[in-house]
Amino acid sequence: MRVSRSSGRTGLVRVSEDDIFTPSPLPLDGIVPGEDDERYLVERVKHLEERNAQLRDQKRRLETQYRNAENDRQRLAREIKHIKAEMEKLKSPPLIVGYVKDILEDGRVVLKSSTGPHFVVHVADFVDRAQMKAGDRVSLNQQSLSVVGVLPASLDPAVYGAEVVEHPTVTYEDVGGIKAQLQEIREAIELPMNRPELFERVGIDPPKGILLHGPPGTGKTLIAKAVAHHTNATFIKLAGSELVQKYIGEGARLVRELFQMARAKAPSILFIDELDAIGASRYEASTSGDREVQRTLMQLLSEMDGFSPRGDVKIIAATNRPDMLDSALTRPGRFDRLIEIPKPDLDSRREIFAIHTRRMSVALDVDLARLALQVGEDATGADIKAVCTEAGMFAIREERDSVAMADFEKSIRKLLGQKIGGAQNLHKDSAFA
Ligand SMILES: Nc1ncnc2c1ncn2[C@@H]1O[C@H](COP(=O)(O)OP(=O)(O)OP(=O)(O)O)[C@@H](O)[C@H]1O
Ligand SMILES: [Mg+2]
Repeated sequence: MRVSRSSGRTGLVRVSEDDIFTPSPLPLDGIVPGEDDERYLVERVKHLEERNAQLRDQKRRLETQYRNAENDRQRLAREIKHIKAEMEKLKSPPLIVGYVKDILEDGRVVLKSSTGPHFVVHVADFVDRAQMKAGDRVSLNQQSLSVVGVLPASLDPAVYGAEVVEHPTVTYEDVGGIKAQLQEIREAIELPMNRPELFERVGIDPPKGILLHGPPGTGKTLIAKAVAHHTNATFIKLAGSELVQKYIGEGARLVRELFQMARAKAPSILFIDELDAIGASRYEASTSGDREVQRTLMQLLSEMDGFSPRGDVKIIAATNRPDMLDSALTRPGRFDRLIEIPKPDLDSRREIFAIHTRRMSVALDVDLARLALQVGEDATGADIKAVCTEAGMFAIREERDSVAMADFEKSIRKLLGQKIGGAQNLHKDSAFA
């Protein structure tokens, strides 16, 4: 038998001519009927048995072929259905997006189309009217503008992107010093979320938001990361500068959607880093860009007023220019907890050294307390981290396996020397001027 798989994507099974059974002639040569009856019958039975076997074989083959053909048929039917659906998609006209303004008593709907004008239209029967309410986004038929579907509320991709899905690896143990501040942050954020009844019993509202402020590199962003790591709440993080948008009203919309998401995913913590990007004092705006930033700030203020302090949404913001912030932001009821993150004191500096040398291989002579003293009052956490990295670089350059005290000292001289040198240069420039 030849079963030919035809070429091409269909892969159909074809039955060839050979598959039609033709019996071979009975071998009667040399047999005389009547005389050799017995031999004749034996031959005939043998022949019939052979033929029977052949037929059975053929039946089996045809059954296989039938099954293959049936599979092919089903596959093609599916393909046709898929192609028809695709064709349908290509042929169907685009739908217009509109926003429901009002639902009339007779079941019709007043809506605003995305192009501007308002219309009164019918609603298709298959749309669930109970689900539809004013403000919803709906899709409209092009000709009659009747409502054919309710669309999900839209959120800006930037807002989706702000949610921290994978929690950062920074823990509270990675934060050196600033223990009192950390405690206060945890109280203001975690306590109202975990034990709201405490506040209810005493009858006070927990703070809605906290503002971390302090010099650059003191660990404000680090703390927020640690809070995100330890909380079970949704953590939403974005930089203030991301809220500054090009078009009028865009920034305000982003703030609105951000709070919308925070509420929908409550309990949640909203962290706005570098708040000064939008929080700078109002009333001095001169350009339209400044005014747009102000609108964004006002939306933020009104959103903060809008949600209940006992709710499950908390805001943390960070800035290193608290003096620049609009006083409306820092008044009670908004960011009413101002937490200063100062430069680390001697003890904290030693702790931060310990944290950053934890994973380094350091020589026995390294004395962290002395290093903490040597870096000086002015060093921040970020400086200390840089000192450790630089010391490691010195060791690598000399192909040593561990970092010695001398490396650290050299590194401090280099980095702090740069700092002092920079200041001196500034001085020189001003002297010239
Ligand atoms: N208290 C600290 N303990 C441990 N590491 C710290 C500490 N403070 C700062 N660092 C180190 O310095 C780095 C920078 O700190 P961070 O980004 O938190 O500064 P920041 O306060 O947010 O600064 P900016 O105001 O410029 O945004 C951190 O990644 C961390 O490695
Ligand atoms: Mg920061």
